[in-house]
Amino acid sequence: MEDFVLKKLSLDDAMIFALHANNRKIWSNLTDRFPHPYSLEKAKDFIKLTHIPVPTQVLGIYIGEEPIGAIGLHPLDDVFRKNMELGYWIAEPYWGKGIMSNAIAQMVEYGFSNFDITRIFARPFGRNIGSIKALEKNNFLLEATLSKTAFKDGKYEDELIYAIRKT
Ligand SMILES: CC(C)(COP(=O)(O)OP(=O)(O)OC[C@H]1O[C@@H](n2cnc3c(N)ncnc32)[C@H](O)[C@@H]1OP(=O)(O)O)[C@@H](O)C(=O)NCCC(=O)NCCS
Repeated sequence: MEDFVLKKLSLDDAMIFALHANNRKIWSNLTDRFPHPYSLEKAKDFIKLTHIPVPTQVLGIYIGEEPIGAIGLHPLDDVFRKNMELGYWIAEPYWGKGIMSNAIAQMVEYGFSNFDITRIFARPFGRNIGSIKALEKNNFLLEATLSKTAFKDGKYEDELIYAIRKT
């Protein structure tokens, strides 16, 4: 596996971040909150947002000085405030190298250490084998399979709910 680090995204890296993010194959596996096309302006806006919460909830995935993706924990509120939702993507040239499996492990540790939560969950589409495998390798358990609840890119998609609990 290539060496990578998780660290705060820098506005100086917005251009490369946008170039990697501007990929329909990435967008097609995420919610529509992830823009497509992914412009430099969108990258700057996103990176600025990641600088607001303390501790940081979204970290960049870097190989050397290059931002190649992002991984984040999104807080829920009200009666769901003990949960955070994990989201992530990595640039296509780096797929299948074991990076996200390792990044998820680090983010789970980070999440349970820095936030007052007891459950981290992710909701891959049923066809997202790479994401499902990366979650299962990190001991996330399949809690639910919801049939055709998502509507993405003109098609209905199954929604899987995978979660890991703080022990
Ligand atoms: C899904 C994604 C995050 C996986 O990241 P990755 O760094 O390629 O994952 P890993 O290399 O850690 O792979 C985990 C496992 O899945 C397998 N895998 C990865 N991509 C795969 C694919 N497209 N099809 C089948 N298996 C795949 C890997 O071989 C590995 O299995 P192994 O350990 O048995 O060899 C990445 O493909 C991506 O960013 N996709 C677009 C955005 C996205 O889907 N985000 C998640 C939304 S829930």
